[in-house]
Amino acid sequence: MKRIGMLTSGGDCQALNAAMRGVVKTLYASGEEVEIYGFLDGYRGLIYSKFRMLTGKDFSGILTKGGTMLGTSRTPFKTINDPDENGLNKVEAMKQNYYKLQLDCLVILGGNGTHKTANLLREQGLNIVTLPKTIDNDLWGTDMTFGFQSAVNIATDAIDCIHTTAASHGRVFIVEVMGHKVGWLTLNAGMAGGADIILLPEIPYDIDKVIEKIEERDKRGSRFTIIAVAEGAISKEDAALSKKEYKKKMEKYPYPSVSYEVAAAIQKKTGREVRVTVPGHMQRGGSPCPYDRVFASRLGAEAGRLILEGQYGFMVGYKNREIVKVPLEDVAGKLKMVEPGATIVQEAKLLGISFGD
Ligand code: F6P
Repeated sequence: MKRIGMLTSGGDCQALNAAMRGVVKTLYASGEEVEIYGFLDGYRGLIYSKFRMLTGKDFSGILTKGGTMLGTSRTPFKTINDPDENGLNKVEAMKQNYYKLQLDCLVILGGNGTHKTANLLREQGLNIVTLPKTIDNDLWGTDMTFGFQSAVNIATDAIDCIHTTAASHGRVFIVEVMGHKVGWLTLNAGMAGGADIILLPEIPYDIDKVIEKIEERDKRGSRFTIIAVAEGAISKEDAALSKKEYKKKMEKYPYPSVSYEVAAAIQKKTGREVRVTVPGHMQRGGSPCPYDRVFASRLGAEAGRLILEGQYGFMVGYKNREIVKVPLEDVAGKLKMVEPGATIVQEAKLLGISFGD
């Protein structure tokens, strides 16, 4: 008999349900007797012992469903060791609940912050297996996270829609893409959507270079320009500021987000009409794309196999086209960013895409 706890933490994404289903289907298929405890709303459920016993029925028909059937929340790692408002030691509470339920293992689905806490729980002696979830694709130790491809599809659709209206009006259009502090989503959606300029956090932009590209297109007779801007994009001037100086600047920041700053600068310097579109949380919503359904199922199957073999302390990831297990201590606390010199960036430049650098 295996007693498995399961939770989803951090921002949701597509294919969380598919991944959980993959784990549970594998466990059931093995013929091993299993009890599944689904903790609600991320680590919060584990801290406050809020859970649901799950059976095969709960995992039926969820392969295609977006969101997470367990609910999720953000429980910042930064304050995980601080007592809660009632003085409760959160880490001790999680351990106690794990032992009280006599769990053999916790399956944790999450992104960067989630993995730091998962690794802490491992250090504290709990058996942990994790699965890499996030539309940002910024988890170290895996070439791909589930949710990413679905979000690329949605962000690409947004850019595609903007293309036709931008072409009709001859305007400059900015589409702001999620991704937190990394540019994977913007880079991929930008290339897939045929963006002319792509601004990423990893490649600070020079607004004059951005304008140069717009004007070059004008001269060639292109009536419009599409700019895919990562929500974490940063100008060269801002990137040169110290952390303190940057924080001070942001206290008086007059724009809702960086795209509006880029738009205002282009408008001021060129007099061109610029429009901003922010698809926002749409990028995390809806059904997982077929790629993510297959990918999350494969990751889930491998997690199930590790559990059956009693192999703990790993994230199941994807490296060089293989599903692999990666030690949690290697994953926690590291960001996988776009290398400015990466071949994909070079290829995008060969295609004539400007990164504003
Ligand atoms: O990490 C996933 C993500 O969607 C990021 O792309 C984005 O910056 C962030 O979460 C938004 O967080 P929230 O849903 O808390 O606003």
